[in-house]
Amino acid sequence: MKTTNNTILITGGSAGIGFETAKLLIESGNRVIIIGRDQKRLDEAAKQLGKVTAIKADVSKAADVEQLVATLKQDFPQLNMVINNAGSAFYYSLNDDSQPAFENASAEILTNYLAIVRLNQLVLPLLRTQEEAAIVNVSSIVAYVPGASLPTYAASKAALHSYTTSLRLTLAGTSVKVFELLPPLVNTAFSTEIGGEHGIHPAVVATDLLAALANDDFEIRVGDTAKIYELFLSSPSEALNAMNGRRN
Ligand SMILES: NC(=O)c1ccc[n+]([C@@H]2O[C@H](COP(=O)([O-])OP(=O)(O)OC[C@H]3O[C@@H](n4cnc5c(N)ncnc54)[C@H](OP(=O)(O)O)[C@@H]3O)[C@@H](O)[C@H]2O)c1
Repeated sequence: MKTTNNTILITGGSAGIGFETAKLLIESGNRVIIIGRDQKRLDEAAKQLGKVTAIKADVSKAADVEQLVATLKQDFPQLNMVINNAGSAFYYSLNDDSQPAFENASAEILTNYLAIVRLNQLVLPLLRTQEEAAIVNVSSIVAYVPGASLPTYAASKAALHSYTTSLRLTLAGTSVKVFELLPPLVNTAFSTEIGGEHGIHPAVVATDLLAALANDDFEIRVGDTAKIYELFLSSPSEALNAMNGRRN
């Protein structure tokens, strides 16, 4: 996939991995559109990024996504890449009866999986018209092996992983390439509650993404994700223990 001269939508581009990815893609000569729910954060990000279009939209809301896609078709008919990055997570124990597991899981599955299925279906007719196009779904290391402190989040990312694999198989041979970005722990606001300060910088994730796009490396295992994946292939139980800080 070419990494310059693209027109790219990044969901959740006002902070963290999405922001660093927007920055790198702009520096690499791409047109970038970011979306987020908070106008103030979007304005601040747009000020820092410079040449970017920022649109307020919530990926979990059907009306917002329909309006967004209509705007893209009209104002950015050359759109050829979508990076589904916006995500939501709850850190809690399934053994804690005070925690609303159903509500947590509903919010996570909507933002991390169903919203992506909806946006991709709406935007695919436009992507198919381009000579070269890509969809990048951002899942996580926990798509391979669950971490029990974010139980329903891990399940939503596993669903996204499965769907992304099917989408790649289905679109093989068309102009639309399907990538999956699987970060390990990354130091962003998102991961503060689970020791995010020990994670890698989001700019590292963005750099790996660009390199993988250029190489058509479709399943992008960043940092520790590659190690957990290898361990999972040799011993699923050891990978589960490693992910959850347990000894055999
Ligand atoms: N950080 C990690 O350790 C880690 C590890 C593996 C995978 N990931 C995945 O990487 C992705 C990005 O995470 P991050 O750490 O960069 O998070 P972050 O720093 O919290 O940034 C999230 C971005 O998404 C936006 N957003 C959240 N919900 C949205 C919605 N419903 N509609 C539109 N925009 C929304 C946020 O802006 P608003 O809040 O203003 O909407 C913000 O711009 C997520 O899918 C996450 O699951 C993160």
